[in-house]
Amino acid sequence: MTELVARGKVRDVFDAAGGRLLLVATDRISAFDVVLADPIPGKGRVLTAFSLFWFERTRDLVDNHLVTADRSAFPAPFDADPELTGRAMLVERAEVIPMECVARGYLSGSGWAQYRTTGQVCGIELPAGLVESDRLPEPIFTPTTKASEGHDLPLTPAGAQDLVGVGLYERLKELTLTIYERIAETALTSGVIVADTKFEFGFAGGELLLVDEVGTPDSSRFWPADVYAPGGPQPSFDKQYVRDWLDASGWDHEPPPPALPPEVVEATAAKYREAYERVTGEPFAAFERRMGVQEVSA
Ligand SMILES: Nc1ncnc2c1ncn2[C@@H]1O[C@H](COP(=O)(O)OP(=O)(O)O)[C@@H](O)[C@H]1O
Ligand SMILES: [Mg+2]
Repeated sequence: MTELVARGKVRDVFDAAGGRLLLVATDRISAFDVVLADPIPGKGRVLTAFSLFWFERTRDLVDNHLVTADRSAFPAPFDADPELTGRAMLVERAEVIPMECVARGYLSGSGWAQYRTTGQVCGIELPAGLVESDRLPEPIFTPTTKASEGHDLPLTPAGAQDLVGVGLYERLKELTLTIYERIAETALTSGVIVADTKFEFGFAGGELLLVDEVGTPDSSRFWPADVYAPGGPQPSFDKQYVRDWLDASGWDHEPPPPALPPEVVEATAAKYREAYERVTGEPFAAFERRMGVQEVSA
């Protein structure tokens, strides 16, 4: 039998033996750190497609945990499960560093909320007079705790150094900003701003690896560059759509979350696919074909 070693908000993690894991991106969606009741059809495959795209384009900067996403190369019994096509990755199991490594190039979300009240984001002093969604003078490293339940909490540089040690903090900061820059530059050539993004790192065999997911709509804020206008929230083709709907519903971000109407589920699924196509320039159907998804019986 296959052993479920962990169930994250979005991913199911199975032991794949030989020091490896099978990471399965489900269609679950979380917002404000709460898993919503309704799955978003196809979302897990979109997340996997994004991560594969970025793992390939950042490998020269840092090693990552990906072994393969080709189902036929998965160990048994995973190779025989058509449900896994295009949504699972065989990865090196790592000791995950308990810190979410966030890079911000723009002032949005919880960063904007902190700045508005303190003039700082995660203890980093920013120039006065910035408005919501403003581009920062330079990208900043704003790590948070990695809460197993509930909300991740912002860390100051000193707090982050206490958590992981000064040497590792410096290494993670530099890597995070370097990878963010690569992702932001690449996406911008497709007309997409990466306002902020989150990475996780871990150690495997003494080596530092980029793990988890990379540059997905779940871990990043994507904005269309052509209509970028600081001074308020930006239209986005990522998870912000669901967050905005939830906020408009009056939900207080504490469980239980409200149910999503079918049209919001469908629009969200379309936003995820559109985000992939905008950022990568590849039709999502082409990714599915490449992975052999059409074999999946509906
Ligand atoms: N290579 C890896 N080795 C061990 N754990 C990993 C690896 N890559 C990702 N993980 C962990 O697997 C889980 C993925 O599930 P996810 O749904 O993203 O969780 P979360 O609710 O914490 O966001 C996370 O806890 C993540 O830290
Ligand atoms: Mg996660």
